[in-house]
Amino acid sequence: MSDFFMNTYHRLSPVFSEGKGSWLTDTQGRKFLDFTSGIAVNCLGHGYAPLVEALSRQASRLIHTSNYFQSDIASAFAEHLVRACSGAGMEKVFLANSGAEANEGACKIARKYSFKKYGEGRHRIVTLKGSFHGRTITTLAATGQDKFHTNFGPFTEGFAYIPGGDSAALDNALDNSVCALLMEVIQGESGILPQSEAFVQEAARLCAGRDILLIIDEIQSGVGRTGTFLACEGYGIKPDLVTLAKGLAGGVPIGAVLAGEKTAGVFESGDHGSTFGGNALAAAGGLVVLDTVSRKEFLDEIRGKGDRILSILKSWNHPKILGLRGRGLMTGIDLSVEAWPLLEAAIARASGTRNGLLMLSAGPKTLRLLPPYTISAGEIDEGIAMLREVLDTEE
Ligand SMILES: Cc1ncc(COP(=O)(O)O)c(C=O)c1O
Repeated sequence: MSDFFMNTYHRLSPVFSEGKGSWLTDTQGRKFLDFTSGIAVNCLGHGYAPLVEALSRQASRLIHTSNYFQSDIASAFAEHLVRACSGAGMEKVFLANSGAEANEGACKIARKYSFKKYGEGRHRIVTLKGSFHGRTITTLAATGQDKFHTNFGPFTEGFAYIPGGDSAALDNALDNSVCALLMEVIQGESGILPQSEAFVQEAARLCAGRDILLIIDEIQSGVGRTGTFLACEGYGIKPDLVTLAKGLAGGVPIGAVLAGEKTAGVFESGDHGSTFGGNALAAAGGLVVLDTVSRKEFLDEIRGKGDRILSILKSWNHPKILGLRGRGLMTGIDLSVEAWPLLEAAIARASGTRNGLLMLSAGPKTLRLLPPYTISAGEIDEGIAMLREVLDTEE
């Protein structure tokens, strides 16, 4: 392990050097089945041949132009991305590099929309308790979890939090000081917690009636993860803004703010920018992801694979499993025991010919599984069997 990194991450022990399909190999030659996809990033697995080819080809053609110019590849990607999100009413895109940057962009659009139309004093943004929207000062302010706020204030002013699922609190919070509601339809970091259809639809109705913008953060749940291109499509709503990142370019850093009818024209020349946004390499990766993930049969397969995981886990009736939630390849498992020791045990089983399993936690007692979409049924069964073994053997 390198001593040169700042101590920001509570890391697990393997140091990886290679990946192929659903497998990662560490520097000791140990093999691990990857149920994390780099936290929903390597959605097509590791070394996916069409992605490798597209990135190699693009690297030899053109890696970057500044946003003084367009590139052919970024233009093609923008068009495909907007089309992939057209079912949710999206018309234009701003390309960025990360989820936090995408959410920052969406907040700026919401504030400008409101300022231009209603003037000062209508700049507040309501988010949900338990949400996670990023690590910048503004997106931390948007994040409805106190534990992220210690030591870093003062934050960007104007964020308020309400409990998810509470339509009365939402109705009360969406007053005439508010320009937007920002929410995940399925909270990822706090445990794969889906909002109910009734709450999401009520939120959309209240926002539309008050001209408050609805921003859906699909950074973890989007790009096919739940078996629809956007998770919010499954809720039958048309948001004003959608943010994407993580899996959108298959592993190359990317972020995107998608805007619908009301918001597509809010940013004008000079309002916003990003040196790397629309980078040609990221766009090449993004085109491969879109070509693969926006196909209906592929999305159906994601749902089928997720159902397979859930049905095996349910069939165990395991005493340490207290709750199970999932949509597509996004599964949350509430435990009676701490999650972190299980992550360590699933890694520690790797030695010689025995493979290890990589999983994530989301909260102290919740496991989070985010396998690559390309995982096979056999690999799912193998990984779930490893999970069973560590559940049975760990105290
Ligand atoms: C829902 C959600 N929003 C925003 C972010 C922040 O994304 P990034 O780490 O790319 O800035 C994350 C990251 O985990 C996320 O899950």
